[in-house]
Amino acid sequence: MKRRPCIAGNWKMYKTVAEATALVNDLKPLVADVRTVDIVVCPPFTDLAAVVKATAGSNIAVGAQNVHWAASGAFTGEVSAAMLREIPVAYAIIGHSERRQYFAETDQTVNDRLKAALAAGLTAIVCVGETLDQRTQGATETVVGTQLDGGLAGLAAADMAKVIIAYEPVWAIGTGVTATPAQAQDVHAFIRRRLAARFGEGVAAATRIQYGGSVKPDKAAELLRQPDIDGALVGGASLKAADFAAIVKAGV
Ligand code: 13P
Repeated sequence: MKRRPCIAGNWKMYKTVAEATALVNDLKPLVADVRTVDIVVCPPFTDLAAVVKATAGSNIAVGAQNVHWAASGAFTGEVSAAMLREIPVAYAIIGHSERRQYFAETDQTVNDRLKAALAAGLTAIVCVGETLDQRTQGATETVVGTQLDGGLAGLAAADMAKVIIAYEPVWAIGTGVTATPAQAQDVHAFIRRRLAARFGEGVAAATRIQYGGSVKPDKAAELLRQPDIDGALVGGASLKAADFAAIVKAGV
């Protein structure tokens, strides 16, 4: 079964409101004729309302880069799923390796955030991936498997309709060292087997698994040709309209 590709841009902590609006206004005409790929941009929280407004009526959806697990409360600096839905934002990235590395994100907090996101009707992009040390030690599947089991704990098969997995090897993020298509495909196939064991073959066959880590226009087509790679989570190259559009078109 061919899954509909999803290409998402993670803008990280880049772009003011004015810059974000300019970027999506540049992007819109470049991807306007794309019908067979889900296109998502994930700007900083401060840009979300402006980007939702600028993309209204277009084929570009908008996501947040994080979401809190509580509905409301004394959680300074955090944003709830309901707040995102009101904007309205459709997607949320959860468990990015930068959150795991710098902000004490764990598989437990990923799971808590994911449940809140799904309960509010968001589509979640759940990130997993090993460090270079872990890969060198041959621990890639153990690490990714543990992240999947913990992050998706307690979910029902039906919940997976709104979950996208992003495989992002930490050593490939922002380094310019892209995983080879074969390296990525191996881990994607492992992830799909793990999903099959947990949720059944049907869910595993339907779940989209994005690759992320130095995805560039010249690397995208071959990555996206791999049987278990169903999209990309793009950092640096998503900050340039022409580059991101080229990656989107590689998924057509
Ligand atoms: P780069 O594409 O800049 O390597 O970032 C990848 C990433 O972290 C996307 O979430």
